[in-house]
Amino acid sequence: MIIDLGKIKLSKPLILAPMDGYTNIPFRIVIKQMNPDLMFTEFVNSDAIIYTNKKTMGKIQILEEERPVAIQLFGHNPENMAKAAQIVESYGPEVIDLNFGCPSPKVSGHGNGAGLLKNLPLLGEICSKVVKSVKTPVTAKTRIGWDFDTINILETGKRIEDAGVKMITLHPRTKSQKYGGNADWNYIKLLKENVSIPVVGNGDIKSPEDAKRMFSETNCDGVMIGREAVSNPWIFKQTRDYFNTGEYIHEIPFEERQELCLFHFDLSVKYLGEQRAQFEMRKLYQNYFRALPNLKRFKRLVFATTDHKEIRKHIENILNIVNDPGIDFMELEPKVRWGS
Ligand SMILES: Cc1cc2nc3c(=O)[nH]c(=O)nc-3n(C[C@H](O)[C@H](O)[C@H](O)COP(=O)(O)O)c2cc1C
Repeated sequence: MIIDLGKIKLSKPLILAPMDGYTNIPFRIVIKQMNPDLMFTEFVNSDAIIYTNKKTMGKIQILEEERPVAIQLFGHNPENMAKAAQIVESYGPEVIDLNFGCPSPKVSGHGNGAGLLKNLPLLGEICSKVVKSVKTPVTAKTRIGWDFDTINILETGKRIEDAGVKMITLHPRTKSQKYGGNADWNYIKLLKENVSIPVVGNGDIKSPEDAKRMFSETNCDGVMIGREAVSNPWIFKQTRDYFNTGEYIHEIPFEERQELCLFHFDLSVKYLGEQRAQFEMRKLYQNYFRALPNLKRFKRLVFATTDHKEIRKHIENILNIVNDPGIDFMELEPKVRWGS
């Protein structure tokens, strides 16, 4: 089934998942190099949008070069969600997505995210108010239920569909599972059989073969990739190559990893500022350079400076650094942590 989202039509799309703390502008531009079909922002709080919270407004900025992009909203007040959707619409996303899946107690404990799976009439009301308040296509992302005793994905799907939402993404775990156990793809198949809007499957795709298997086992219309995109940004290119040719490059060469890491670093400095860039990148070095032995030597040097030009030089020089045992004995103090 072609996924018709107004200005964009997607056939078997590979989609970057929304990930709080990761899918910011630099990360999305990095992933864009791998040709995903659609990318999601981090989720944003609808109330914070209404109060024009500075940090939140920064999260909904979109650059032309990264389109198409979906902005994801969370909240539990239908009027506020509709108002926030109108504000978000003025930032020009191709899609506005509603979060009905976040398991974090700070979110779901207040009736937001997966908390709405305990109140499906309210979930349905949010969907229809938002759909009526904007012209931009509205989509939703959810889980199979609050816990194993209250699995309600078919009713959730029906309410979402009846409200005029254009596409539903399912991460087939319960809220209680958080990220534990396995995503049960049978529920993606079940949902697909029971709604007429497109269904995007999500959860535990770690390789191009997994993506192919999710399409064939569930008959889903698109697949969404989250954590694997953080540890391996090339997953989108590898999967597309695999679908087109049956083959893909399994191990990305070191030079290409280093080049992408430097690109990511420069984008982070440009869009997040020097200080934040350093802390954001700390989460990512082990992914870019996971094949290198003694990466701790590199981390010791990088974590001990706040000079971004020096850090950039360390990334350029990483092969010499990891091979230099002298660094193990250098007197280096990690600099203050971000936010402390
Ligand atoms: C660090 C992190 C942040 C996440 N933030 C969001 C979010 O903001 N909105 C959302 O709908 N899901 C969020 N998720 C869930 C992912 O979008 C996705 O559903 C989940 O990770 C399963 O897919 P995966 O196995 O491909 O990672 C987050 C997941 C992680 C690991």
